[in-house]
Amino acid sequence: MKILLLHGPNLNLLGKRQPEIYGHETLQDVENKVRGHAFGRAEIECFQSNHEGELIDAIHRARESTDAIIINAGAYTHTSVAILDALNAFEGKVVELHISNVHARESFRHHSYLSARADGIIVGLGTYGYLAAVDFLTS
Ligand code: DQA
Repeated sequence: MKILLLHGPNLNLLGKRQPEIYGHETLQDVENKVRGHAFGRAEIECFQSNHEGELIDAIHRARESTDAIIINAGAYTHTSVAILDALNAFEGKVVELHISNVHARESFRHHSYLSARADGIIVGLGTYGYLAAVDFLTS
């Protein structure tokens, strides 16, 4: 199976940005770890963008070629009806993921536009959450 690992705004700075919240691993570290974990079970395609439209385009492309999406939409989680609409046009499984426990943070992070579409939501497990998402999707 093929899984798209989709990262939204500011996640290119993972490891450097607020490490007390998001940890010290870089996005490349996480992608390598996920690929290793999924080896023999799933092909992992990775895409990161700071631009809402590019994330939507990636979801549209996934309609053709991808079985499932693991999405950490960053702050767009809390603002983007457009990303929700794109996910609603995708027929495979969707896991919404947040590295931090958004419910223990500012109240504006408590609402997600994407959760209504997600088959599962992983919150606050750090980058281990990506491995759990792969296990769910390949089980
Ligand atoms: C995040 C949580 C969001 O609220 C925040 O805007 C992010 C990262 C997380 O992984 O914990 O950029 O999605």
